[in-house]
Amino acid sequence: MKIQTVAVHAGERKKPARQIPVSTPIHTGASFVAESMNELDRIFGDEEKGYAYSRFASPTNEALEEQVTALEGGHGALACASGMAALQIGLLAALMDRRKSVVSAQAIYGATVKLLMEVLEPFGIAVRFVDANDLAAVEAVIREERPGCVLLETISNPLLRVTPVDRIAAVAREAGAAVLVDNTFATPLLLRPLELGAQISVHSATKYLAGHGDVLGGIVITDKAHFETLRKLSRIYGPVLGPFECYLTLRGVKTFPLRMERQCRNAATLAEWLGRHPKVEKVYYPGDAAHPDAEHVKRLLPEGLYGGMVSFEVGGAAKQDIFDFMDRLKLIVRGTSLGDVHTLMLHPWISSHRDVSPRHKERMGIRENLVRMSVGIEAAEDIIADLEQALQ
Ligand SMILES: Cc1ncc(COP(=O)(O)O)c(C=O)c1O
Repeated sequence: MKIQTVAVHAGERKKPARQIPVSTPIHTGASFVAESMNELDRIFGDEEKGYAYSRFASPTNEALEEQVTALEGGHGALACASGMAALQIGLLAALMDRRKSVVSAQAIYGATVKLLMEVLEPFGIAVRFVDANDLAAVEAVIREERPGCVLLETISNPLLRVTPVDRIAAVAREAGAAVLVDNTFATPLLLRPLELGAQISVHSATKYLAGHGDVLGGIVITDKAHFETLRKLSRIYGPVLGPFECYLTLRGVKTFPLRMERQCRNAATLAEWLGRHPKVEKVYYPGDAAHPDAEHVKRLLPEGLYGGMVSFEVGGAAKQDIFDFMDRLKLIVRGTSLGDVHTLMLHPWISSHRDVSPRHKERMGIRENLVRMSVGIEAAEDIIADLEQALQ
């Protein structure tokens, strides 16, 4: 064989050794070679489990999907290129065989509002928003609308309301609607939506699951009934996560419970400290005894684990005052994400909820003087010292 031929074939496509690596490697192959054409035929025909093309399935993705499926108590999962991609395919899977109508919690992530109103609605999917913490209103809207899907977040962004997922799921079940829950903020350490009656759980894996601020990814976990539809949709339009990001997420998830426990503990310490600070007007934290959803918190979240997020309003602060406060931060990172090992702060008014109309922002209760903090795993006293000097 000529050198050009040897260069592209030598050493490749060897059968793996009997000894397997202790952790899943990054499999980058776009396509896979079967033993025979008959075997490939069976794999393409879904008669045999195996790999043919990485838009359909691939080993690194599968390892992550199995890992998160186990954490969430689901039947199967699909790792996606972002949380938004995961939400979109999750919604399509929910609506596939149902009425093309979504009833959504109104206090949800800004881009999710846009996904509903600027992408799905123009394609003919009806969208109605409701206050998910007003159970009577939720019941009335579901009964009237008979939606195909009810969309919720477990802990809302950025005001940290705790959704009665179990109670809404019971209402949705009677109406024949699928329940899709964005579980990014609560994570499976705090709450597992499928065990509370939801059929689909979605994460921005960018956040707590990957946890280090170096991955953009999402994951959809479903029950048995929705899994085939999810995989079928994915095979066609291919929102899948790349193998490098799958590997990083798989690795991140191994320490996620440890990180999350620490983040919850730090958040409790910070919420308590902020509550006593004279410059702080209001603290939003699910662990507060006076939290408006204290009853759901007690029923749904484990004792002492109330999430790693704390939001607060700085008394009398206008937008520029918040900019100045955040510019003074030395340790806390001004970053548009959450769930990382380091503490992050965000100004929802100009970032996560920037494109939400002022009317909708007002309805959601998002004011100019509100900041949202994602508490990291640092020593709590160092985070407090940074807040102290910045809140001058
Ligand atoms: C609750 C929630 N859901 C979904 C997303 C979207 O995730 P991604 O940025 O990975 O697309 C975010 C992003 O901040 C989020 O906070």
